[in-house]
Formats: sequence, C-alpha cells, structure tokens
Amino acid sequence: MSNHEATTGLTDIIPQHIAIIMDGNGRWAQQQGKSRVVGHKAGVESVRSCVTTARKLGVKALTLFAFSSENWQRPEKEVSVLMDLFMFVLTREVKRLHKNDIKFQVIGDLSRFSEKLQKKIAQSQQLTEHNTGMVLSVAANYGGRWDIVNAAKKLSQQVIANELTVDDINENSLHQHTCLATLPELDLLVRTGGDYRISNFLLWQAAYAELYFTDTLWPDFDEQQFKKSISIFSQRERRFGLTGEQVKPN
Ligand code: IPE
Ligand code: IPE
Ligand code: MG
Repeated sequence: MSNHEATTGLTDIIPQHIAIIMDGNGRWAQQQGKSRVVGHKAGVESVRSCVTTARKLGVKALTLFAFSSENWQRPEKEVSVLMDLFMFVLTREVKRLHKNDIKFQVIGDLSRFSEKLQKKIAQSQQLTEHNTGMVLSVAANYGGRWDIVNAAKKLSQQVIANELTVDDINENSLHQHTCLATLPELDLLVRTGGDYRISNFLLWQAAYAELYFTDTLWPDFDEQQFKKSISIFSQRERRFGLTGEQVKPN
C-alpha cells in the first residue's frame, strides 16, 4: 500500500485495489415512487464519481460489480435496460477513460452478451490496453464460483497437455488463472445497499480483503462516501494471521 498524503483529507493509506458491489439502485428508485430502471440510470453517476476519485487518489485497480451471473433471472425488461445502459455508457465514457490513462476491462463470461456489446467491449479494451494510470475492471455476467471453476478447467487442460503435473496445482498456479490475477491483491471490498453478503462476487480474491458495508444506496454513494470507506479501511489493522504485535509498525 502506498502512503498518499492529504488526499482524502487525512493521511490515509490508499488501498491499491478496491472492489465495489454496487447495490441498491432498485430500492433508491422505488423509494421515490419511480421504476427500478431509474435507479440504474442514476447509479451511472456514482460509477463516474468513484472512477474519478479512485484515479485521483492513486488507487491502482478499481473493480465494479455491474451484473452478476444470477441477475439474468430478473424480469426480462430490466435485464434488457441494463444491457442497453451498459452499451450506452461504454460508448459515451470510453474516450474519457482513455484520456485519463485508465485501462478498461470486463471480467465475466461475455459469451452471453449480444454481438454488438461484445464488439464494443473488445474495442474499448483494445483502445485502453496500454494505459497504466489505473485498471478499471467491470464484472459483468461474473460469478466468483464461475471464476474458480474456470481456473480449475484451465489447470486441467494444462495437465492433459502435459504442461503441468497434478503436484504443480497449488494456490499460486490456480490464482494465475483467476480473473484479476495480474492486479494487486484486493485490499478493500465495499458493498452499498445495506446487505451483508458477497453475492458470489470475488470469492477467491477476497480472502484477505477488508470488508466495508454501508446502508447508503448506490446512487447516493458519492465522493465523500467513497473517501469515508477509504478512511475506515485505513484505520483497520490487517494481521493476515499474525498477532497484533507482529504487524505493529515500530
Ligand atoms: C444493483 O442494484 C445493480 C444490479 C444488480 C444490476 P439492484 O438492482 O440490485 O438494487 P436493489 O438491491 O434491488 O435495490
Ligand atoms: C449483487 O447485487 C450484484 C451486483 C451489484 C451487480 P444483487 O442485488 O444481485 O445481490 P443479491 O441478490 O441481493 O444478493
Ligand atoms: Mg440488489
């Protein structure tokens, strides 16, 4: 972790890798007597603000949960609005990401998306692939179990091809095949919307992440709220199995 002074207003430790479960769009809209999709549209502004703030603070990787493998089971109309919104936002924002030296990537099983969306994603990834300021990963049709199963499959293929023996399978080699393997370890996992669960997000990657849950609904999660989550992270003592004395700075 880098010590980035006076950015969040304090001398907070800035996490290198933050992931967010962006939850609560539907309830935000329903509370105002509006349809759920109004909440999804409003949530786009929070995405923008988090990306900008993370980049400004020197966060190296930001990973956002946009659509889970379970979200396909929602009403067809809501799914289709979400897909249209993804396409629309990507088209509108990718140049801005590029200008800010942000590398964009989508993690998840893309095969279920329309050809048009898959193409847009590929183009956006290509345009930004050499950027080094920050990596923005959007998880779409992503599931943590899918990620681990996928890694297991790749290892099996390597064993069959005699590139690996069964004894070469360990935490490190499996990790290499999971999504986000090239990024810094996940430091902070935020969930908005008031629920205390992971909902099949980064199961493997969250092993030692600090968890932060807030009741704030995603469209209300602004720069100040984001900085607050970083401040709280900064006050946590990460022990990684050691004793408090072992990890205390001298
Ligand atoms: C999160 O908000 C966005 C997606 C899952 C796509 P929700 O749509 O889950 O909002 P709530 O939880 O119903 O309020
Ligand atoms: C998690 O939110 C997925 C995303 C934020 C994309 P959900 O609203 O789908 O999670 P559950 O159903 O409450 O667990
Ligand atoms: Mg939800």
